[in-house]
Amino acid sequence: MNKVQIIGTGSYLPEKVVSNFDLAEIVDTSDEWISSRTGIKERRISEGENTSDLATKAALNAIENSKINPEDIDLIVLGTLTPDSFMPSTACIVQKNIGAVNATCFDISAACTGFIFAMDIATQFIKTGRSKVALIIGAETLSKVVNWNDRNTCVLFADGAGAAVLKAGNENSIIATYSGSEGAKGNHLTCDSMPVKNPYVKEKNIFAVDENCSTIKMDGKEIFKFAVNIIIQSINELLQIAELKIEDIKYIIPHQANTRIIDFTAKKLGVPKSKFFINLDKYGNTSAASVAIALDEMSRAGMLKKGDKILLVGFGGGLTYGGTIIQW
Ligand code: ACO
Repeated sequence: MNKVQIIGTGSYLPEKVVSNFDLAEIVDTSDEWISSRTGIKERRISEGENTSDLATKAALNAIENSKINPEDIDLIVLGTLTPDSFMPSTACIVQKNIGAVNATCFDISAACTGFIFAMDIATQFIKTGRSKVALIIGAETLSKVVNWNDRNTCVLFADGAGAAVLKAGNENSIIATYSGSEGAKGNHLTCDSMPVKNPYVKEKNIFAVDENCSTIKMDGKEIFKFAVNIIIQSINELLQIAELKIEDIKYIIPHQANTRIIDFTAKKLGVPKSKFFINLDKYGNTSAASVAIALDEMSRAGMLKKGDKILLVGFGGGLTYGGTIIQW
């Protein structure tokens, strides 16, 4: 089995900063409510760039950081719940934009766990020798699937993209991966696609358009319960797989959904909150992009030293969950 190294990271966030005060002008909310319930202060919102635009910029950033050429890439796996289109896949659009002519490209649908799943898939491809250089991306324009009249959700979600380049190498960066899904709980966090509309559907009003059909709907309390339990389960499973103790982990990068979820998890695990990297105050919940953006931000800030063990953990719509332990 080949060893898998992370050789570079990248990210991109739209320029437009939208504060909680800005949102209070659109819906009945306040900075106090959003900050105290979620930890979010501001987020980036696209002024027209689509998911592939954000993903392309994050990918180019990661390619530059990795010192590779786009032609070296033989696999692009992109996690998103907000693709540009049903087809082509957003991964194929990125391929075209960056000139990665030798890559096999596909999107995966694992919502907020998208980047973690992408890393797991690319790791397996590289381990088995099927791929040598893989570009993995988590990218979202959640602003296009948010119901901007629903204060329960529109204050949470945001836009952004993160990427990493994985390569077959002599050292192992990826030392444990873990994932799972609970489809039976999928109804707690949804964003519907188009209804079945064709001349053979008997139901009346099939051509009536519900403008909120493809918007995010969430049972916040159920997701909160799921999140805290599954983060703890994932961390424990990963530590067991890697034969490590929580003290061996320098940082935990959780999916950036909500500080209360992170506070609760830290308390339950009995670890200081400072072990958890948090940037959701600046970027909100960017779903599949959040862990990727955080990893890139930490790397560029010089927070990650050679040999540090970092645990990434995510959960999201599906419901899905998973994690990875990286040795930097
Ligand atoms: N501003 C002001 N008031 C609000 C807002 C808002 N933005 N949103 C909801 N409220 C109101 C509600 O209408 C409700 O009012 P009511 O009592 O008059 O009916 C009141 O605040 C309390 O609502 P709750 O839903 O009980 O609020 P809760 O304390 O549960 O917090 C939250 C909501 C933050 C979503 C919480 O449930 C949570 O943290 N859930 C975890 C889910 C999460 O973080 N999801 C992120 C996306 S999922 C993912 O990334 C995988």
